[in-house]
Amino acid sequence: KHLTKEQPKRHDKINVKVAAMSNVSRNPNMAQLRAGYLFPEIARIRNAHLEKNPDAKIISLGIGDTTEPIPAPIVSGMANAALALGTVAGYEKTGGYGSEAGQQPLRDLIVKRFYSEKTKINASEIFVSDGSKCDISRMQQMFGPGRKVAVQDPAYPAYVDSSVINGHCTGYDEKTKRYENIVYMECVPGNDFFPNLEAAKDADIIFFCSPNNPTGAAATRAQCKELVDFANKNGQIVIYDAAYAFYIENPDCPKTIYEIEGSETCCIESCSFSKYAGFTGLRLGWTVVPEALKFADGSSVRFDWNRCMCTAFNGASNVAQGGGLAALSDEGWKSMQETVGFYKENAKMLKKTFEELGFKVYGAVDAPYVWVDFDGRDSWEVFTEILTKTDIVTTPGAGFGPTGDGFVRMSAFCHRDNLETAIERLKKEFAK
Ligand code: MLT
Repeated sequence: KHLTKEQPKRHDKINVKVAAMSNVSRNPNMAQLRAGYLFPEIARIRNAHLEKNPDAKIISLGIGDTTEPIPAPIVSGMANAALALGTVAGYEKTGGYGSEAGQQPLRDLIVKRFYSEKTKINASEIFVSDGSKCDISRMQQMFGPGRKVAVQDPAYPAYVDSSVINGHCTGYDEKTKRYENIVYMECVPGNDFFPNLEAAKDADIIFFCSPNNPTGAAATRAQCKELVDFANKNGQIVIYDAAYAFYIENPDCPKTIYEIEGSETCCIESCSFSKYAGFTGLRLGWTVVPEALKFADGSSVRFDWNRCMCTAFNGASNVAQGGGLAALSDEGWKSMQETVGFYKENAKMLKKTFEELGFKVYGAVDAPYVWVDFDGRDSWEVFTEILTKTDIVTTPGAGFGPTGDGFVRMSAFCHRDNLETAIERLKKEFAK
């Protein structure tokens, strides 16, 4: 009603040349990526299956997304943290921008629960964040482009994809299905899922995940020592992903790389509350950067990590940190053990099912993932067959790297009744 006759209305033709495209060239690193990120791709296939079969009762054993509610003591911690933000005193204490590295009591408790018994890690080396995956991308930013990166093959796809996005790779070999300038270290039953590290001799950065996603293999103390000695000898930095360490039951496998002598001069460790406390949606994790870790010029990696975090991140949500503090209380800790125990039981049920069906099965004991050997069959084909015959979503091994082909990963994150139904369907369709 405020428009006068002289003023153009929105629908009047205005003589502005509308460009069909911008003048900004596409980031060539983005153009190198071969496919969409694995899990949204799988969600797309699942949705297409559901559209075609609207009555299908789909069960997901695909993405490792937690299903059980967050335990009550942890929810109370979060609720209290949220309520405190509604009071003047509470807001003064934890409201507004917090420390980028996390609330001091939470950093102290992380040290107490995960590091004080067997390592020398202290709270100034802990950086609380919104999770492991985000930290991995920010680490890539810190290292800058053009690095030689080595990954276990198969591996969590975020390592390779973030390497490509950050300009570490020089092309893609269609024949080998590998990005160039990335070292793929094969992890197969024949080497007990521990790679020949010599392949990574020229790498700057080694991604290493234990317990491994997707194979479920946890590295032993001797294997971790081999990794640490190798990295120290060659002057490399290991990004050690310990997001599933709480699942380890083998006493011969360390729960943090800092149990290993020499690790502080070559390892960054990334951890998460996601798979212990059900924080996949809430987002809370931490990264350990030891003071002793230095770049080639002697400068501190911790200093640069802090600088990156202060620039790219404003600190984890204060409500999530309230949940983290509660998770590390005695009650919260016990409830996390129960939740993890529940998923571990699921993993063992799945393992037993496939073993009874005559398959070779790996993982499932020290990790929430079951790695099933389909005798060299194309894993996307197996994935499709399982989905079509049973309405169960899995993850094809090839999605984790070329060496993963022939395998399918089943996640143990599932309600028990759904898992029991899934097991019945699998038994019916896959009896050998
Ligand atoms: C997976 O399914 O591999 C992971 O859980 C996904 C994630 O943690 O980002």
